[in-house]
Amino acid sequence: MNIDLSTTVAEVSLENCIYNASGPLCTTAEHLHAIGESQAGAILTKSATLELREGNPQPRYYENDLGSINSMGLPNKGYAYYASLVAEMQKHAKPYFVSVSGLSLENNLTILKHLNTVKEVSAIELNLSCPNVPGKPQTGYDFEQMQRVLDKVCALEGHPLGVKLPPYFDIIHFHQVADILNKYPIQFVTCVNSIGNGLVIDVDAEQVVIKPKHGFGGVGGDYIKPTALANVRKFFVLLRDDIDVIGCGGIKNGRDAFEHILCGASAVQIGTQYMREGTGCFERIANELVALMQEKGYQSITDFKGKLKSID
Ligand code: SIN
Repeated sequence: MNIDLSTTVAEVSLENCIYNASGPLCTTAEHLHAIGESQAGAILTKSATLELREGNPQPRYYENDLGSINSMGLPNKGYAYYASLVAEMQKHAKPYFVSVSGLSLENNLTILKHLNTVKEVSAIELNLSCPNVPGKPQTGYDFEQMQRVLDKVCALEGHPLGVKLPPYFDIIHFHQVADILNKYPIQFVTCVNSIGNGLVIDVDAEQVVIKPKHGFGGVGGDYIKPTALANVRKFFVLLRDDIDVIGCGGIKNGRDAFEHILCGASAVQIGTQYMREGTGCFERIANELVALMQEKGYQSITDFKGKLKSID
């Protein structure tokens, strides 16, 4: 059987529904070309700010068997750099998504206005959920501010726009956020960013494992898969049909990718596992997903996307 992993995100076609999360190893042209040369279905940049940022002091990333904690603080080369790479990224013949995380609404508007003029940008993922910039709360947890941001950014004409959300934990919050998002012409949501402000401890050293914010940082990997799945599921059910959900959180093999798609994800992003394994993870996870689909008799991801069963 010929198994097809193709999908669309915001009406942009991807040959493979698996690609990188905006986070690890997507900051430099070298990183982005490596993703382009891999089996990843798209190239997604590190979240761009107005100006280049060095990010938080090191050590700022740590992983163990269960996942990762980071407080990178948005180290990136500034939005103009990611815009300037569009021409060279064309050779990979796959979508080039730019993540944006301006430090203010005005910054976001400046960045989006410019990116909207750059024809080759396939879509923009507006990051409303970075937990790691001291003094900058996560917009995704401030529903009034989220609406103010969406009012302005959605008034701009341009590329397909999606938002990267933080994880939510309360049923009423899923409904409140979905009610907000359903009012705007966004085309996708990415669920989820890391669980913000966790703490991982080195028992031997009786110390935190990362330096910024006294060790507090965004948690990813196995630790967060059930939360990520719950967010994908809820937003798949609650959002308009024309808003794609992209799953992110705890995907390290084909079965994890399958679970996200079963919950309703149109595509999945890999963060912690990509950091561990490098670009080979995209092909390995895709092969594992294909093998599982073959076993189950599924030919394309639409055969099982969103079809999670409840217990009667
Ligand atoms: C970071 O750079 O601090 C991580 C990005 C994010 O969590 O959005």
